[in-house]
This record gives sequence, C-alpha cells and structure tokens, in this order.
Amino acid sequence: MSASFTHDVLVIGSGAAGLTTALSLPPDLRVAVLSKTTIDSGSTQYAQGGIAAVLDSSDSENAHVEDTLRAGAGLCHEDAVRTVVHHGRESIEWLIDQGVEFTRSQDNHYHLTREGGHSHRRIIHSADATGQAVSQVLCDRAREAENIEIFENRVAVDLITNKKLFLPGNRCAGAYVLNREVQHVELFRARFVVIATGGASKAYLYTSNPDGATGDGIAIAWRAGCRVGNMEFNQFHPTCLYHPHAKSFLITEAVRGEGGKLLLPDGSRFMHRFDEREELAPRDIVARAIDHEMKRLGADCLYLDISHKPAEFIREHFPTIERRCRDFGVDITREPIPVVPAAHYTCGGILVDENACTDINQLYAVGEASFTGLHGANRMASNSLLECVVFGRLAAKHIAADHPHVPAPPQARAWDESQVRDSDEDVVIAHNWDELRHFMWDYVGIVRTTKRLQRAKHRVDMLHSEIREFYSNYRVTNDLLELRNLVTVSDLIICSALQRQESRGLHYTLDYAESLPDARDTILVPTSYMARSA
Ligand code: FAD
Ligand code: SIN
Repeated sequence: MSASFTHDVLVIGSGAAGLTTALSLPPDLRVAVLSKTTIDSGSTQYAQGGIAAVLDSSDSENAHVEDTLRAGAGLCHEDAVRTVVHHGRESIEWLIDQGVEFTRSQDNHYHLTREGGHSHRRIIHSADATGQAVSQVLCDRAREAENIEIFENRVAVDLITNKKLFLPGNRCAGAYVLNREVQHVELFRARFVVIATGGASKAYLYTSNPDGATGDGIAIAWRAGCRVGNMEFNQFHPTCLYHPHAKSFLITEAVRGEGGKLLLPDGSRFMHRFDEREELAPRDIVARAIDHEMKRLGADCLYLDISHKPAEFIREHFPTIERRCRDFGVDITREPIPVVPAAHYTCGGILVDENACTDINQLYAVGEASFTGLHGANRMASNSLLECVVFGRLAAKHIAADHPHVPAPPQARAWDESQVRDSDEDVVIAHNWDELRHFMWDYVGIVRTTKRLQRAKHRVDMLHSEIREFYSNYRVTNDLLELRNLVTVSDLIICSALQRQESRGLHYTLDYAESLPDARDTILVPTSYMARSA
C-alpha cells in the first residue's frame, strides 16, 4: 500500500517561486513542498545576473515599467507589469530579511548592475551567483520552518480534481506523486495546490537550464483543464559558453552590462548593425543577431570579450564565470569567451490572474510555470526572479484569506498499479527524448517557418501516441513522466507558434516577418475547460 498525506497547502516545486509561497503562508497552515530531486533543484540556484528592482533614486517605477513593456513587444499586460514593479523594493527587502546577502559597493550601498533592455542600473545581485545565494537562504528557512514538510525525490504525476473524482464543482484537491526512492505513486491531498515547477527549456537540444526543466506543471495543469498562454515565446539566451564539455553554462548578461563586447571570429564587432542599443539590446534581438551571423559565416560560435577590463574587476564581479571558464582553458581576463545562444526561459505558461489563481479553484501557479502577463513576447533580464517572489507572496496572501472558507479535501482513491508492468524497453524513452529535443531545436528554434513548424507538429503527434501507449501499459518512471510532459509542452509550443501569423518578440518566422498592428495573446483552451464553461 502506497503512502498518503494530507496538508493544508501542497506546493509542487522548491525553486524561488515555490519556497517564497511556502515561507509566506501563515505558520498555522501545514505545508508540503515537493522537489523532483533535492530541495535546491531547479533553475533558481543557477541564476547569475540578479534581480531587477527600482532601488536607486535616479530610477523610477515608470522607467522599469516602460523598459519591460518595450522589451515585451506590445504583449505585456500593463497591470501585471505595474504590480510586479511596484512590489519590487519590498520583495528585495523580504529576501534580505530572510538572510540573502547582496553585493555592496565600496560606499556600502548595494551594487546595481545593468542588463539588456534596462535603461538604468537596477539589478541587485550576489556577485555572479545570485541564484545560489537566494536558493540557499530560502532552503535554509524552509528547513527551519515548523509548518513546512519537505518531500525530496517526489515527482508530481497529475492533479486530483473534483472532475477526476466524479464529484461536482471545479476544485483541485491534491496530486498523485511518484516517490522515486521506492518507485511508487503516493497520494497527496490538500486544501490548496500551488504549481511552482519552473519552465520547459529542456524541450530544446541546447539549453542553459538544468535537468528537470521539462514543463511538468504546465503539462499537468493543461491535462487538468487549465488554459495556457503565449507558449510560442521561448527565450534563447544569447551567451552560453561554447565548449564540448561545458553542459549548459551561462555567461551572464551582466558581462555585457559591465562593458563586454560581442565579436565575430575575426575580432570585429557587429551588434551596431542590428540595434542602436548594441550589446544591451533585449535578448531576442541579440540572440537572433548571433544566430544570423553564425549561419552567415558558418561559424560554430561567436565571442564575448571583457578582457579590456582590469583582471581584478573581472574576478571581483564575475568570480564564478572566471573560475569556470578557466577550468575549460579560457582565461577571460586575457581572451574572448566562445559563446552560442541556448534555450533559456519559457515566457508563456499556465494562465493566472492577479493573485496567481488558475482556471481551477484552489489551484495556483507561480514562477516560470505561470503566465502572468509580465513578460509579453520577450522577458526582460532579471524580471523572472522578481516575478517569482512577488507572485509567490501574492498567492500566499490569497490562500491565507481563502483558507477559512475552504473545506478539507475530499477522499481520493490510491493510484492503481494493478494493470501495468515494468518496462523492458527504456531505449524507446531515451530515443524519443533525443528525437524531440533535436527537432524542437531545428524546427521550432530562433528562426521559424510554417513548413518547419508543420514538420515538428507531425513528429510530435507521433510521439504523443507512442507515449500514450507506453504510459497506459508500463509502471511510471521519472524519465517517462518527463518525456510525457515534454511532448505535451512541445505540442503546445508548436500549436501556439502555428497560430501566430506574424513575427513578434521571441517568435520570428520567415513566412510572416512583420508584426501585425494588433498585439494579441495566444491562449490555448483544453477541451475539458470548454466542457466546463459550456
Ligand atoms: P525553478 O527554480 O526552476 O524550480 C522548479 C522546482 O520545481 C524544482 O524544485 C523542481 O524540482 C520542481 N519540480 C519540477 N517538476 C516537478 C514535478 N513534476 N514534481 C515535483 N517537483 C517538480 N532570472 C532572473 O531573474 N535573474 C537571473 O539572473 C537569472 N539567471 C538565470 C540563469 C540561468 C542559468 C537560468 C537557467 C535561469 C536564469 N534566470 C534568471 C531565470 C530564473 O532563474 C528562473 O526563471 C527562476 O529561477 C524559476 O524559478 P521557479 O521557482 O519558477 O522554478
Ligand atoms: C543572466 O544573468 O544573463 C540571466 C538573467 C536572466 O535570465 O534574467
């Protein structure tokens, strides 16, 4: 018999968004936090550049809003942008109260760096390892909190909803969760469920994201009947280290913020040909420019050079990058860094309102898994961690207010494993993973065409039916669950990209090179949502 648990709040994911939510809930609520592997897993701990917030007297909320709207290419929801920007300072103060140490200048003020699209210095950071500083502190606070129970090596499979239980109403009441240690699916019942599972950049062959960024929460919410929005906007970070052994290592945009120059293999600069802001243009523009120049020249990579700055400055501001590159034989104080673009951030996600509520009652989504309207067609650098903290706190506040009115979750059946057997064909899963990530990179990447998208759609449909059969017949494993979710999310990306018959922000297609006069979100609606609202 598999274990079963009951809590007030089930938080699926232990990155910045999940832990902020958990830590901001009232201490009398019993909270479960799930993590696929260890509590510090996810993209949060890899964040480098920092967190955007208006902290300097020469800056203003209006300027941060304007920059975000401009980067978002007409698709940001201005109310969401204003909410996030407005809560910026207090979110940073909350992180400092939790114990996060940000880098200070010699005058003892916090040092603010610059990144693409920002008109002011407004990125507060912990050298070039901001995510590690944030993650470590939030994990420590969560471990100390008496009302928070942490469940590691737990993979949410699917949500438990009234619909699944054949009960009336539109409520979420928990989740089925694979315990990887014992390889059994457990039952987690809860009054409230918060999806905080991060993004889906593992859909692509080359990515800055760690393992686990397989869009699980987005796929899980979609299957449960939630709408998703703007999935075609996959952000490619312009500068990941190019080296055969450097898997997913990012070179922060702050290197360009502090004067780093992008170079062609012959040492010449090129960004002025693409945008007047040159190296500090928003990411979509820089990534596309690099992709264009690499294809034009048949180059394997381009270069990012900060070596004109004093070695001492480089070691002080970018100690992690300096060390890591040195390990790979690149001395960044003396030579340019070989770089390529890689999939980095999922701008779309589960549709939520201003309190992070989804289409299903008592189900919330926060962080990279959600679609709040903040990022529009292109996320501005360092707005993501800010969104995690702001919406994590808003979700917690909403749950606290709602809690007295929400009854205990209904009883639910245990997971039925009686009809499945162990797979003896794991090679199929490995093969399908590779195939998916290759065709997503080749056909649904930085530059798209309708024909390439249709090819990708054809392949993803075939994978869908193979995985469905596998899922019905074999015992679930983490690899199978991740592949199942990646296939669903890739399908959502492709369908959204096919619907968008224009180029805007991160979505660039040769067949519709211009933007349409009207900027519209791409909202995909699952059939169960339509049935509910009919
Ligand atoms: P994550 O931090 O990705 O956490 C996801 C959590 O969900 C993990 O705990 C994972 O184990 C868990 N999970 C996933 N699926 C399941 C499942 N099925 N069951 C149970 N648990 C699950 N943003 C900035 O603002 N500033 C930066 O400087 C910055 N730098 C970045 C550098 C890199 C290399 C990367 C990859 C991203 C960077 N970003 C940055 C983006 C930012 O880090 C992420 O968007 C943000 O950390 C996402 O936080 P999250 O809490 O939503 O998800
Ligand atoms: C970086 O440091 O370049 C990443 C910042 C971000 O993704 O917001």
